[in-house]
Amino acid sequence: MKAVVKDEPVRKERMRENLKNESNTGWAGKTCLSFNTLESTNDYGKALAKEQRVHGTLIVADEQTAGRGRRGRIWQSPKGTSIYMSLCLEPEFLPERAPGLTLVMALAAAAGIREVTGAESKIKWPNDLVVNKKKVCGILTELCMEKDRYVVVIGTGINVNTEHFPEEIRETATSLKLETGKAIVKETLIHAILKHFEICYEKYSQTGDLTLLKGSYEAILANKDQEVCVLDPKGAYTGIAAGITNDGSLIVICEDGSKKTVSSGEVSVRGLYGYV
Ligand code: BTN
Repeated sequence: MKAVVKDEPVRKERMRENLKNESNTGWAGKTCLSFNTLESTNDYGKALAKEQRVHGTLIVADEQTAGRGRRGRIWQSPKGTSIYMSLCLEPEFLPERAPGLTLVMALAAAAGIREVTGAESKIKWPNDLVVNKKKVCGILTELCMEKDRYVVVIGTGINVNTEHFPEEIRETATSLKLETGKAIVKETLIHAILKHFEICYEKYSQTGDLTLLKGSYEAILANKDQEVCVLDPKGAYTGIAAGITNDGSLIVICEDGSKKTVSSGEVSVRGLYGYV
């Protein structure tokens, strides 16, 4: 991974040192732009994509001043302890296939976390990672159409070495350090995630969907066989989550035995997670 670090020489040395012993990824993160502070790594990635080709470019920040979560939420991004990164892609497949990449990143992040920390994270559909029923990772995928191509920016926030959370998320969030008792080198984890992402992306690109990844995804799907409440704008309903379709929708078996597939909207899991 070639790290181009902006702003601060001290950090530049640390980044170089940490990357020295890592094996190379193929293309993901080969160009890595690392910042001390950004408003949002996703916003930076989208702006960069307007000026140049960005397939595989990774944007990393030590702190975000305007970090964004899904559904317009704020993603609190204090300095130093967490990973805030965005991977830019210019896929070969059609743009309507791009939302599935969120699930691909969830799978890759879970595999990277397992490899580096030993922690067994699970996926709360579609793309939150939880350890011991608390959130450690969130993913925000955004699409931008350029003149001659489209670009996908997959933003990932991981609570790595955080020891204290603000009161409003204390009950629902955790960090890898709190769960494993070990401090983790952020660059090592980033590298492992990118390595797994490349493998998963290759499989996704082969079919343009999750056919080849569905089994691995469902194996760590926290909602599987659990009761879920689907907050459909047309009316909430409950059922049992049976798995996912090849395009990443959640399959829900309702009380009357009917089957529904949920492609958007919020799914909450009763009695399992405090943060829903
Ligand atoms: C969520 O769970 O709501 C998604 C959170 C995504 C946060 C990451 S941090 C890096 C990237 N930059 C952002 O502004 N957001 C994403």
